[in-house]
Amino acid sequence: MLTLPELQRIASEAHALRPLISCLREQGYELNGIARLLALADPPETLLTRTALYSLVHSEELSARPSPLGTLAQLFLLACPVDLRAYASLPAPVRGLCERYGLVALDAQHARGRVSISELDSRYYLADRLFENRGAGDIALCDTSALVMPVHESSLRLLRFLEPPRGGSFLDIGTGCGVQAIATRPACSRSKAIDLSPRAVVLASINSALNGLEIECAQGDAFTFADGRRYDRIAFNAPWSLDYRAPALDARSSPTANVARFVDSRLELLLSAGGSCELWSIFPLPQGDGSAQQVFERELGRPERFLIELHPVREGGFHVAPAAIAARKLPRGCYLLQDPAHAHELLAFLERNRIQEVLPVLLRLRLAA
Ligand SMILES: C[S@@+](CC[C@H](N)C(=O)[O-])C[C@H]1O[C@@H](n2cnc3c(N)ncnc32)[C@H](O)[C@@H]1O
Repeated sequence: MLTLPELQRIASEAHALRPLISCLREQGYELNGIARLLALADPPETLLTRTALYSLVHSEELSARPSPLGTLAQLFLLACPVDLRAYASLPAPVRGLCERYGLVALDAQHARGRVSISELDSRYYLADRLFENRGAGDIALCDTSALVMPVHESSLRLLRFLEPPRGGSFLDIGTGCGVQAIATRPACSRSKAIDLSPRAVVLASINSALNGLEIECAQGDAFTFADGRRYDRIAFNAPWSLDYRAPALDARSSPTANVARFVDSRLELLLSAGGSCELWSIFPLPQGDGSAQQVFERELGRPERFLIELHPVREGGFHVAPAAIAARKLPRGCYLLQDPAHAHELLAFLERNRIQEVLPVLLRLRLAA
């Protein structure tokens, strides 16, 4: 992973990296192009959600039939090592920029990417890598606590849920690599992106510059942020995960409680009258506690202050269905696990805390008149 000073250097010279994006485009480095190269039967966006699986399945065939696009995908999407001869076949300007900014590490035999680069809707996003494919079926997950996630399932769900902005101001809270602010920027008059993590702030500003967009990126905490302005649209891909290694679900810091605390303490301060806040999270639902909407409204001090639309998402890698808990069998590739070997710990935690379902939710909130 790139260090913070390395990222800061890129941020200060981001214009110099823009030709890399042009070269990636010229090589067909975009989801559709990579999906075609891999002959994927699934939709191209699954390259962002099942990346490790595709890395396992396709890395050998890409090494056996090297092409510039395949090599770029191995380096920056599928996180696997590439042979130096394949690396040498990349256009010289691409290699020059990658080496100048430390985007690849070279040893005697291989080149490895040190960042992930995702394309979505013609925009490019640098972020940290979630895993490293070390070959022979060995996928090593990176420590997710400090890293800035590439565009992934929750990013896509929130992005596709956002009502298209119509010219107003936009605030992206927990911006990560900047995807919500960047994707919506052309339709907004002004955009700001905040994150607790300094790495995220730097990556979001790099990505704004690489995509030729002006976004104010700043460090900020969702629970305390205020800049004296109100925003017409607020997006928050709430980062709360389940701490399943703890003996009990802490009612004060569960994802539901955190979302409610944010809404309770910030929304009336940050949101314009007539504006909307869209939010993604996962709600652990206790047995016999009612619907997700009822559970959420109980957490809020005075829910009547808001108009609340809650959309359950009963699919994808974050959902744990009641049937899965009852059968003590998690779906394959469950994103709630920090390590695939923790499945039993997560199930035991859910049972111990009488959680009947882990429900991903998309929320749309407006201020009541
Ligand atoms: C799940 S990621 C979402 C990234 C990006 N917005 C997306 O949609 O892919 C959550 C982000 O929230 C940030 N975060 C965590 N706690 C926060 C807080 N209290 N205030 C602001 N950001 C926070 C994390 O650093 C992380 O970058």
